[in-house]
Amino acid sequence: MKSNKELFAELDTFIEEKHNDPSELIAILHKAQGLFGYLPMNVQQFIADKLKINVSRVYGVVTFYSFFTMVPKGDNVINICLGTACFVRGANDLLARVEEILKIKNGETTPDGKFTLTTLRCVGACGLAPVMQINDKTYGNLKVDDIDGILSQY
Ligand code: FES
Repeated sequence: MKSNKELFAELDTFIEEKHNDPSELIAILHKAQGLFGYLPMNVQQFIADKLKINVSRVYGVVTFYSFFTMVPKGDNVINICLGTACFVRGANDLLARVEEILKIKNGETTPDGKFTLTTLRCVGACGLAPVMQINDKTYGNLKVDDIDGILSQY
């Protein structure tokens, strides 16, 4: 795993490749999130300083787009599909069960950093609805009773 210093150096190089151009802010934030996994305030401040813009402008963009996050991701990312096919087949009940077991809400990470829970709109596996993904693995045709057993594998 890279150190924070190395991550900042890599981000610095990327920003320079973009000629410290504020119009590249979204691309730079994507790069930063890819490096750090999320966008904490010190990373936002670093970017603002490099682009010579106010950090509130960076913060505004981060909070506007749902694909940017200021919360560190857990070791395992759970995605529950809430697309139409999954929804009509009970995806909401799956979500409720995961929230109950992990004691977190959609979008949150467990205090031990083990799981992050998120939802998606159709992951392209409608034939398997309802679908849940954990990291790169897809679980289909799920029932609420399956959830405990699956989570205990992580
Ligand atoms: S709606 Fe869930 S995979 Fe398509």
